[in-house]
Amino acid sequence: MARQRTRVSRKSEFELRAMRKSGRILAELLAEISAAAQAGVTTRELDNLTRQRLREKGAEASFLGYRDYPAAICVEVEDVVVHGIPDGQRLEDGQIVGVDMGVFCEGMHTDSAVSFAVGELDAERRRLLEVTQAALEAGIAQMQVGSRLREVCAAVQSVAEAAGFSVVRDLVGHGIGRQIHEPPQVPNFVAEGQFAEYDLILRPGMTLAIEPMINAGTPAVRLGADGWTVRTADGRPSAHFEHTVAVTREGPEILTAI
Ligand code: MF3
Ligand code: CO
Repeated sequence: MARQRTRVSRKSEFELRAMRKSGRILAELLAEISAAAQAGVTTRELDNLTRQRLREKGAEASFLGYRDYPAAICVEVEDVVVHGIPDGQRLEDGQIVGVDMGVFCEGMHTDSAVSFAVGELDAERRRLLEVTQAALEAGIAQMQVGSRLREVCAAVQSVAEAAGFSVVRDLVGHGIGRQIHEPPQVPNFVAEGQFAEYDLILRPGMTLAIEPMINAGTPAVRLGADGWTVRTADGRPSAHFEHTVAVTREGPEILTAI
């Protein structure tokens, strides 16, 4: 069977400059939103704050209107893996919460997510946060010129599974740039034969959104009746970290860091 070659765009220095700007706005805003996410705050208030700040900065929310998604951010409370729609739900102490956001600025998108504690977490939730962040960092470290995408996927998976957690299979990371979702798909696991992308050789100017979604229990997920909210099938907590990262000759450049 002829293998489809994955066409992955390589960004010019001009495009990378725009993504750095977009990514900086995103990183600063994500820090502000995480700090605001205290017990008693509703997820809609976080969305409203995001919209206000983006207006002030002259940037746009990548997610709003994307496939009719109705908000600027996704909020991932406890067993919500991804794509939680902001609403009147109030955050509570002891919850693990993720915020996922995309920013569009000067023609380019960046995408980032962070998970954090509201109040004090139990030991398992704390470890889930640490391990998921470490899995993202391990994946990013493999984003070297000449490496195969498989090395990135394998690094994320091994950190998560060595800690006894599970990697969500039904959702993956992605290329990003002029579009919020571009080729290649970036799985957080290696299942040979399932993705042609594993063989992709990383080249300077490729920009990828690496986003491990790691569950305390089963990797299985369920889609909610709203058509968006993805939850763990067993109701146990999930964590999600994401950065937009450029492959450069000097190594991986995280575009969504402050
Ligand atoms: N980071 C998420 C993703 O890459 C954002 C979802 S975009 C949405 O899928 F707009 F569809 F929510
Ligand atoms: Co993403």
